[in-house]
Amino acid sequence: MKIIESPREMSSLCLGWRCDGETIGFVPTMGALHEGHLSLARAARHGCDRFVASIFVNPTQFGQNEDLARYPRPFERDCEMLSDVGCDVLFAPSTVDIYGPRMSTHVGGQAVSARQNTREQNAPQQDSARAVSTIVEVTHLSAIWEGAMRPGHLRGVATVVAILFNIVRPDRAYFGEKDYQQLKVIEHMVRDLHFDLEIVPVETVREADGLALSSRNAYLARDEREACAVLSQALKKGVATARGGERDVAKIEMEMQAICDSQPLVKVQYLAIVDAETLAPLQQLDGRAARILVAARAGKTRLIDNMAI
Ligand code: PAJ
Repeated sequence: MKIIESPREMSSLCLGWRCDGETIGFVPTMGALHEGHLSLARAARHGCDRFVASIFVNPTQFGQNEDLARYPRPFERDCEMLSDVGCDVLFAPSTVDIYGPRMSTHVGGQAVSARQNTREQNAPQQDSARAVSTIVEVTHLSAIWEGAMRPGHLRGVATVVAILFNIVRPDRAYFGEKDYQQLKVIEHMVRDLHFDLEIVPVETVREADGLALSSRNAYLARDEREACAVLSQALKKGVATARGGERDVAKIEMEMQAICDSQPLVKVQYLAIVDAETLAPLQQLDGRAARILVAARAGKTRLIDNMAI
């Protein structure tokens, strides 16, 4: 597996592949890889002639009090995992490579890539989004749910993914359903901005007790980790009740909330049944595709999950 830091080198390699008629599959990540990321990687490996992954801990999608500085960065291990699933190229640019030199003063002078960097040491985490002169925002999806809890987060995601798409110009890009609102934001961005590529959603990979795999699960203390199983239990119950014929959303939500409340270590931030496309809250299930979204805190760790009805 080749590791490339320079956007110019990355885009010219991809251009060569495209000219040779090879298809490119792309999996953007922030590293700290687990089986969830690997299922995207395997789908890209099998679905395309070439498979490119990226590792870039994107400062513009972290809020000022979030975990940018302590986000896990096990770069060597990530490289081994990607290489083992047959990744052709890992793109690991620096913050300055992606956003330009203005960004360095906003994230503590970081001009280093994931490869050189073990930790975004002492990043003062000023408002890095202000250092970016061009932003991409899917307006109607960015202010609700995750957008309301983490202002600027989805704008940071859309902006970096647009930049990565322009560098790699993939035929297909793979995103996890685990981050359902992010997936919808990217699908809408691709449609609205006429990116010539296909977004491929990949099912959520879970632990044996149902907890969705996440790089942030590593922050959970043992009792918190055990308690967090209620999230997927509540989601499963909601799906089962809806499939059993219950149409009243408030009733299903109350039943799910009660399951979550049985674990005092888990504090629900939102739990809602929404239209699967617009993410608007529903009152009645009427046969339209719906999704249950949940966000919760366990101690200092924030977790999100969702399931299709
Ligand atoms: P990251 O959290 O590293 O996730 C990278 C991709 O892996 C995302 O598409 C995410 O939905 C997917 N993923 C995470 N956990 C998963 C699981 N348990 N099952 C299936 N897929 C899972 O999401 C980001 O990075 C960033 O926001 C990014 C898109 C890279 C932009 O910076």
